[in-house]
Amino acid sequence: MYKLFIRPILFLFDPEKVHHFTFSLIRFLSSIGFSSIFKNIYEVKDTRLETEVFGLKFKNPVGLAAGFDKDAKLYKELSNFGFGFIEIGTLTPKGQDGNPKKRLFRLKEDSAIVNRMGFNNGGVLEAVERLKRNNGVLIGGNIGKNKVTPNEEAVKDYEICFDALFPHVDYFVVNVSSPNTPNLRELQDKKPLTELLQTLQDKNLAMPVTSKGTEKPKPILLKIAPDLTNEQLLDIIDIVNDTKIAGVIATNTTISREGLQAENKKEMGGLSGKPLTNRSTEVIRFLSEKSNKSFPIIGVGGIHTAKDALEKLKAGASLVQLYTGFIYEGPKLIKEINKAILSAKTIS
Ligand code: FNR
Repeated sequence: MYKLFIRPILFLFDPEKVHHFTFSLIRFLSSIGFSSIFKNIYEVKDTRLETEVFGLKFKNPVGLAAGFDKDAKLYKELSNFGFGFIEIGTLTPKGQDGNPKKRLFRLKEDSAIVNRMGFNNGGVLEAVERLKRNNGVLIGGNIGKNKVTPNEEAVKDYEICFDALFPHVDYFVVNVSSPNTPNLRELQDKKPLTELLQTLQDKNLAMPVTSKGTEKPKPILLKIAPDLTNEQLLDIIDIVNDTKIAGVIATNTTISREGLQAENKKEMGGLSGKPLTNRSTEVIRFLSEKSNKSFPIIGVGGIHTAKDALEKLKAGASLVQLYTGFIYEGPKLIKEINKAILSAKTIS
């Protein structure tokens, strides 16, 4: 239904306008009672899908990746499509417009997207207000720095977001891997990255006792680029082990343009979707093997079929996320993945 009727119409229009239109449509339909219909169609309810990772209980291991619901405007409605968790963000301390439009491109022939959004978001405090109304959706808070903040002062920006979101999210993601904020990825270097993660982890472990009792430290994950070399990935393993953060999300979008067909492949930005499938799985496998599985990994990048998701789980991921596959394949992909995970469990 989605691929045959809905997608061909949506794909006639500008991708960013379609994003906003779909948001409004999902919100409207949910408000007139479609939430339970979506739930009935797409949710796979089975206790065998429940997964405990870094101390959190996920009702299933398939999540929505960061960037789709940056401002936490639609996480409740989106969770009705069968996701086990929703990652909001990337959020920055102050709201910012992001890069000039046009900044989002479909590469149809490649089942891919190039984006150079540049952390457009309304700022962390607006999102906090919306998250206060959460009633049980497991939320990851993906945090970054404002474009105007120099790298030398970046730690402060991450701290502001961390503090503001702490009572309202279940886990944190430190995003230093977007290609669309100038020089951001330099923060993936060993020295600045260790300093950033250590500062956040120290803060995390020292969180004050709240009126409700002691708030446990929250899992902090690092989201990395697929363009890191093996040597840099080995550094990442050391840093995760040294700072004792909870795990890694592999991967963000790539700056590579290898093997693409579409005419607009030269657009600047991060590439996601099918061309990323193998590289992101390779990164997951490398991290898992070289670290002796010493920390959990969330696998993301080019999941367009249930098989893609199973391969990431087999390579060492404990959970998976999607973004571009959700756009190209529609919400039924979430159900297909969950069903395939169940079948794989029955066989093994
Ligand atoms: C993203 N992604 C992303 N990641 C992130 O950590 N913060 C962000 O703000 C965004 N924004 C964003 C916008 C758009 C339009 C896209 C397509 C992607 C990256 C995303 O979460 C994911 O890591 C990659 O897209 C790879 O997964 P898929 O899309 O191939 O499933």
